[in-house]
Amino acid sequence: MADQPTQDELQRQAWKRAAAQAAVEHDVADGMTIGLGSGTTADLMLEALAERIRQGLRVTGVATSERTRSEAQRLGIPLAELDDVVTLHLSIDGADEVILPSLDLVKGRGGALLREKLVAVTSRRRIIIVDESKMVSALASQHPIPVEVDRFGWRHTAGRLATLGATVQRRMASGADTLNAPFISDGGNYLLDCWFGPILDAASIAAHIKALTGVFDHGLFVGMTERVYVAGIQGVRVYDRPA
Ligand code: A5P
Repeated sequence: MADQPTQDELQRQAWKRAAAQAAVEHDVADGMTIGLGSGTTADLMLEALAERIRQGLRVTGVATSERTRSEAQRLGIPLAELDDVVTLHLSIDGADEVILPSLDLVKGRGGALLREKLVAVTSRRRIIIVDESKMVSALASQHPIPVEVDRFGWRHTAGRLATLGATVQRRMASGADTLNAPFISDGGNYLLDCWFGPILDAASIAAHIKALTGVFDHGLFVGMTERVYVAGIQGVRVYDRPA
């Protein structure tokens, strides 16, 4: 029998839902094309969006992962491929870590960072929804920076990442049927989790990682977020990136 959720887990779930509902209520308008993020908080955003669609809202979504695609289809959210649209009005996604006031992020714990970034850079506005446990004073303080790399020669790419100061671990798949198997992204690539410890200059680390041969992209989203909804003990707070 599955374990019952703890009070803390139930509380966090309620906060995630509150942030998701706030973004869908305030930022989504009729006729928009919307990037649909991935993860447990983004799942709750899909539910809120589907509810508005049932009330008559007309929107089209672009999914950032196969998981989000199937969940959106299940909920009746109309979908398009990224290449079928010229631009997206906005994207709504979760994050693993957020800092203020820059709204810079670490993403990719769910393994969808490359598609999430492809959708984010195609969006005119990027909105992030989190519970307050995701707010940190320095990025990479609680999570590794995930880096999506080509499988070919990945050990060499890992070695190049280590020269930047990271402790590098190839991500493994979870689940009993995937014992000792590496995690494979929707694009067919490996994820290398890079533990840097708290970083002060996210833009510099981001540029150095991106410049390495073998790297497709990484989970640092620097200067890319316009708004963050943070739900917590004080209700839902909204932070806009300073101009
Ligand atoms: C997916 O690759 C990630 O970027 C998620 O958006 C991020 O990990 C947040 O996920 P949760 O909402 O499940 O915490």
